[in-house]
Amino acid sequence: MAKKDIDWANLGFGYQVTDKRYVTNYKDGKWDDGAIIDDPNIVLNECAGVFQYAQTCFEGLKAYTTEDGHIVTFRPDLNAERMDQSCERLEMPVLPKGRFIEAVKEVVAANEDWVPPYGSGATLYIRPYMMGTNPVIGVKPADEYQFRILVTPVGPYFKGGAKPLTIKISDFDRAAPHGTGHIKAGLNYAMSLHAIVTAHKEGYDENMYLDPATRSKVEETGGANFLFVTKDGKVVTPKSDSILPSITRRSLMIVAEKYLGLTVEHREVFLDELPDMAECGLCGTAAVISPVGCIVDHGREIRLPSGMTEMGPITKKLYDTLTGIQMGRIEAPKGWICTIK
Ligand code: PLP
Ligand code: COI
Repeated sequence: MAKKDIDWANLGFGYQVTDKRYVTNYKDGKWDDGAIIDDPNIVLNECAGVFQYAQTCFEGLKAYTTEDGHIVTFRPDLNAERMDQSCERLEMPVLPKGRFIEAVKEVVAANEDWVPPYGSGATLYIRPYMMGTNPVIGVKPADEYQFRILVTPVGPYFKGGAKPLTIKISDFDRAAPHGTGHIKAGLNYAMSLHAIVTAHKEGYDENMYLDPATRSKVEETGGANFLFVTKDGKVVTPKSDSILPSITRRSLMIVAEKYLGLTVEHREVFLDELPDMAECGLCGTAAVISPVGCIVDHGREIRLPSGMTEMGPITKKLYDTLTGIQMGRIEAPKGWICTIK
C-alpha cells in the first residue's frame, strides 16, 4: 500500500474520485448488510423520491493522520445523531448509530492511501448521504432508500490560506422557516445557491444569513456557524433553532472553556452588536475556523479590529487547540477521537 501521488499541500476543497465507497440499501423496512464497492456512479429510476421531492440529506466529517501516524475521525457519533435528526425530519429511515460509525471506519480504511499525510495541510473529507430511491409521484416519502459514503481528499475550504474573509449580509434567507435548521438536507443548500453565487459575483467570500423572521439576528453562513470574540475576550456564538448545530462549534465552546479558560456565551447575537466584536470566525468541518476581517451591511463596512491580514489572537488559540486535538498533538476529551488505524 502506498499513498497516492498527490500534491497534498496544494489541494483545494473539491471532489476527486477515490477507490472505494460504502453502500447499503433499505427495502421492506430493513437495511441490508452493506458493502464497500468500486462503482462511483448511481443509476436510479427517473421518478425516484430524491429527484422529485429532494428527499435526501447528508453529513460531513473528516479523517486525519495524527502526529504518530494513526488515522482518526473526530466525534463521528455526533454526525450519526445529527443524521438521525435529518432523517426523522425528512421521513427517511434512520441508520443505527453503530452502523453509521462502522461504515465510516470501513470506508476510510478501504481508502487508506487517500488519507493525506500528517502535516500536509490536507484531510480526507467524508460525506455520508441518503436518498429516496424508488419511484414516487404523489407527494409522499419513498419506501426504499440508499445510504452511501464517499470520501475525497481536500485542502482548505476558502482560498487564500488564513487571509481573513469579507462577507456580506445576505438579502436572501437560507433557512427554511423555523424547525428545519438542525437538519443537513439538500433542499436547504439548494436554496442558498443563488445567494452564494450573488455574493461571489459581488466580490464577497461568503454570506451572513439573518433570522428570517426579524432580520435582526445573526444566524450562520452557507457552510459554517459563526463564532465571535468580544473586546473583553468572551467567546460568543449565535443560538438559533434555524441553524445547523455545528459539531465544530459545539467542540470549540468546550475547548474555549476547558482548555483556554475563556467565558463562552451561547445566545442570540444581534446585528447591532457586530461593531463591538474584536474577532469573528466561521467554524465547521470544512471551514475549520476561517477568520472574518470585514462584514458588509449594504454598503456599511464593519471592520473587525483583528484586521484583514491574519487570524485574531483568540481565534488562533482556538484553531491551534482544536487542530492539535484532531491531529493528536493535544490530549482530547474522552470519546472525541475515533481511531480507525
Ligand atoms: N452550518 C452549515 C450550514 C454547514 O453546512 C456546516 C457544515 O457541516 C456547518 C454549519 C458546520 O457544522 P460542522 O461543524 O458539524 O461541520
Ligand atoms: C461541512 O463542513 O462538512 C459542510 O458540510 C460544509 C459544506 C461543504 C457544505
